Amino acid sequence: MNACEVIENIKVVPVVVFNNIDQTIPMLNALNEGDIPVAEICFRTDCARECIKLAVKNFPQMLIGAGTVINAEQCKQAIEVGAKFIVSPGLSESVAKECQKNNIPYFPGVATPTEIMQALELGLTNLKFFPASIYGGLKAIKALSSAFPAVRFMPTGGVSDENIKEFLEFDKIFACGGSWMVKGTPEEIKEKCLKTRKIIKGEN
Ligand code: 3PG
Repeated sequence: MNACEVIENIKVVPVVVFNNIDQTIPMLNALNEGDIPVAEICFRTDCARECIKLAVKNFPQMLIGAGTVINAEQCKQAIEVGAKFIVSPGLSESVAKECQKNNIPYFPGVATPTEIMQALELGLTNLKFFPASIYGGLKAIKALSSAFPAVRFMPTGGVSDENIKEFLEFDKIFACGGSWMVKGTPEEIKEKCLKTRKIIKGEN
């Protein structure tokens, strides 16, 4: 399975911000034990690169990607240490090119028809819809989907246990991103992940 297929299969991408490299192993253990073996580690803190490196080395069974990648330099760094997918809050042509060069999936953030058209021009069809709840949620995604049938969305921002099922029921949504399950102690995170997976599988 390639990275896109793994994400599509798990249906949820935890958005993780580490303030300290020591947080990496306990968090990834909790996600893995919680049956969500994927993490988007955000380039919002200085330790992001080292955390990705550590995660890739210690959790070969997990899909580790980089988030909040806002320029080609961060993208290069992330790919260099083993990130298998790249996410941005917006659309960056230089990040898209870097990903294409390395054959790594890129999920740029979009919220408007113009941004979607720009993404399509770069050959990108799997897009993050961000911030989802502020920009109209599922209703907006459905409206955009009728104009852009080739596009699939990963809504992120304001997704939770309460609404993930509703998002995922729409066939143009291939996964949801969010941070609701990565808060608390490792044990709490594991439990939240297991709960989310049950909701996704319709077992709750
Ligand atoms: C973020 O930028 O932190 C992500 O989009 C997650 O959003 P959330 O915290 O609303 O899930």
